[in-house]
Amino acid sequence: MPDPESTLLQSWHHNARAWIEAIRSGTLASRVQVTDQAMVLAVLGRQPERVLDLGCGEGWLLRALTERGITGVGVDGDATLVEAARAASASPVYLASYADLVEAKVDVGRDYDLICANFALLHQDIIALLAAMNALLAPGGALVIQTLHPWSVAAGDYQDGWREETFAGFNGQWQPMPWYLRTLSSWFNALDMAGFCLAALQEPQHPQSPVPQSLLLVAEKRSDHNK
Ligand SMILES: C[S@@+](CC[C@H](N)C(=O)[O-])C[C@H]1O[C@@H](n2cnc3c(N)ncnc32)[C@H](O)[C@@H]1O
Repeated sequence: MPDPESTLLQSWHHNARAWIEAIRSGTLASRVQVTDQAMVLAVLGRQPERVLDLGCGEGWLLRALTERGITGVGVDGDATLVEAARAASASPVYLASYADLVEAKVDVGRDYDLICANFALLHQDIIALLAAMNALLAPGGALVIQTLHPWSVAAGDYQDGWREETFAGFNGQWQPMPWYLRTLSSWFNALDMAGFCLAALQEPQHPQSPVPQSLLLVAEKRSDHNK
């Protein structure tokens, strides 16, 4: 039986075109109303010169960075999404799976001021990837992670574990995607084990919604890591 991590990336190979259409047509209200802006503001707040967008998808954040004079570099594990991101911006965009990045099989550059992961850390074993990203940051660099808010999506089962996104309500043909729900303490522990220190935590919320739309974490590279 395939493991959920490979099924997860495989689902993106299947869903890439429908995802591009969903993002570029602005049909995901939570993104348009809340989470895109939350991510951009979090990036601008760090005043970075160079940013790596991990799991960049079709590249909306790279385009938003370019508009603001910030150099963005993208990396994603799906060829269709990488091709779409390359076609829509002048930013370099690398094709690499997270396993490739952990094993340093693909050189995506280094000494980044910031690495962003916008709804892109959906798998269970993230510590090795976070540690690999830590090594790509310049001293004083930081990681900005925006993800599903674990409390908002827990549906009464607030514990780490695999879940399934069926994309019900999305237009088009979608393959279900396994994803790993991680509690707040589990996020904190993973960051700590990968050599990061949590610097800020936000819960972006729409005024008319009773629950946050996302969890946004800013984690700084610890100076004692990898010495
Ligand atoms: C929900 S999308 C987010 C894309 C983009 N960050 C955005 O905000 O639109 C998740 C992204 O993670 C990428 N991804 C998931 N698992 C991956 C893996 N194992 N290796 C590389 N990329 C992966 C997918 O290809 C997809 O582009």
